[in-house]
Amino acid sequence: MAEANHDFDQWRQAYHLMPKRGWLNDPNGAVYFKGTYHVYHQYVPDNPKGGATHWGHKTSKDLVHFKEEPVFLSPGKCFDKDGVYSGGAMKLGDQIHFFYTGNVKKEGDYDYLYNGRDQNVVHVVSSDGYSIDQRHVVIPHEDFPPGFTNHIRDPKVFQHGNLFYMILGGRKLDNTGAILLFESEDLDHWDYKGNLLEGNEDQGYMWEAPDLVEFGDQAVLLFSPQGIRANHNSFLNPHSAGYLVGRMDWDSLQFIPKGPIKELDQGFDFYAPHTFDDGHRTIMWAWMGVSDSSPEYIYPTVNRGWQHCLTMPRLLELKGDRLLQKPLQEYENIRTNRLEIQNTKKIAYGDIVGHSYEFDLDFVDQPSHFTLDLLEDTRLAYKEGTLTLNHGPSGYGRRSRQLDLDSISHLQIFVDHSSLEIFVNHGEAVFSSRVFPGTKENKMVFDSDTAANLLYWVLELSEWWGK
Ligand code: FRU
Repeated sequence: MAEANHDFDQWRQAYHLMPKRGWLNDPNGAVYFKGTYHVYHQYVPDNPKGGATHWGHKTSKDLVHFKEEPVFLSPGKCFDKDGVYSGGAMKLGDQIHFFYTGNVKKEGDYDYLYNGRDQNVVHVVSSDGYSIDQRHVVIPHEDFPPGFTNHIRDPKVFQHGNLFYMILGGRKLDNTGAILLFESEDLDHWDYKGNLLEGNEDQGYMWEAPDLVEFGDQAVLLFSPQGIRANHNSFLNPHSAGYLVGRMDWDSLQFIPKGPIKELDQGFDFYAPHTFDDGHRTIMWAWMGVSDSSPEYIYPTVNRGWQHCLTMPRLLELKGDRLLQKPLQEYENIRTNRLEIQNTKKIAYGDIVGHSYEFDLDFVDQPSHFTLDLLEDTRLAYKEGTLTLNHGPSGYGRRSRQLDLDSISHLQIFVDHSSLEIFVNHGEAVFSSRVFPGTKENKMVFDSDTAANLLYWVLELSEWWGK
C-alpha cells in the first residue's frame, strides 16, 4: 500500500491515540507499572480495514504524552493464528500478567459461530511490559462449558483475597449474552465457577469485553452487548457499551445488579471500554469506533491508510447509581491560548485557532434553550430538557443523538482533528463522536436564552502524536 502523506491529512488526531497506519480497535491490557503507563490495543499494522489483530503498544509517563512502542503481541501461533484478540493485564509483584483471546478459524466450510472457531485464553508473563517471558494457553477452547456458541472471549483478570478471577464475555446457544467466571490459585489453572451474570433476549446476543470495577462495597459491571435492543434515546448504535451498578456477592460469585443496563456514552462512536487502576483512581479508555456501522455511517480515513482511535482516558467515579466519566486533570497541562468570556448569551467566533481545543461552558442560570454550532456543521442544541447532537455532512452519515436531562449546568467539550467528546454536567453523560470536517471553516457560535461563562483553550502537544 502506498505510504499515506500524513502532512496533508487534517483528520490525524493531536491528543488521541491512533495508529500511524492500519487499523485500531479495543484498548487492551492497560496497566501502570514501575512509573510508566502502558496501554495496548487491537491493531492491524498493514491494513486500515482490519484483519488478524495484534496488540499495538503505547507508553506514557503522564497519560497525555505517549510514545509508540513496537508491537507487543502478534498472531501466528497455532492457538492465535487469526488474531491476538482483546484482554486485560494484572500486576503481581514484579511482573505483569496479561490474558488475551487467541482467535483461531479452522480451514473449511464453517459458520465460525457454532463450528470452526476456537477462542483460547492465553497467559503472557512480562517483567517489563515490553518483552515476553512466557506465553501459553491456560484455557483451551474445548474446556469452555457447554451451552455456549464458539464466541467466548476477552478475559479480564483480577485478585480477590487469595484467589484470582477471570471474567469472559460469551454468546450462549440461545443467542443471549453472558459473563463467565473462572477462578484460579496460580493464574495457570482455572476452574469454571458459573456465570457472573446472564442477559435476556432484549439485552443483546453477545456480551463482549466485560470489566468489573469495585467502588467500596458497590461494583460496576461494564460490557459491550452486541445487538442490545434500542430503548428511547439509548442503544441506537449498531453495537453499544453499557454498565450495571450493583454489588459483587463473593460467596455466590454472582453480580447482583441494582437497576437496568445503562448506556455508557450517548454518541456514535464508543465501544469496548477497558479500565485499570493506577493506584489512586480508576481510569477508562474505549475504542472511539464501532463495528457494523456501515452503510449508515463511515470512517473516511480508511482511504488515508488508517482507521479509528481511542477515546481520551477518563476518570471513573460512582455517584449513587450513576457512573461519572470525567476528563483527566492531566489534560489541563496542555491548555494554551486561553480565552475567557464571562456572562454571555451570544457569541460568534469564526476563527478558531487550530482544530484541537477544549471549550467549557458554565451556565449561570438554567437555560430553557440554546444552540452551539461547532466545527463545520455540527450543532449541539438544548430545548426543554433534551440535549441533541446533530452532525451535518462532516458526520459521514452520523446524524442525531439525544439525551434527556433533569437540568443542564456545565459542558466540557474536547475537539480533536476528527473527534468530539462532550462531557455533560461534570461527567453525568458523555457524547463521543468521530467527525471529519474540511480544512477551512472552524467556527463556534453560541446562542442561549440565559447567560453562560465560557472558557476556551487550544490543546497542543509539543510533538504531533499522529505523525
Ligand atoms: C470488540 C471485539 C472483541 C474482540 C476484539 C477483536 O470490539 O470484537 O470481542 O476480542 O474486538 O478485535
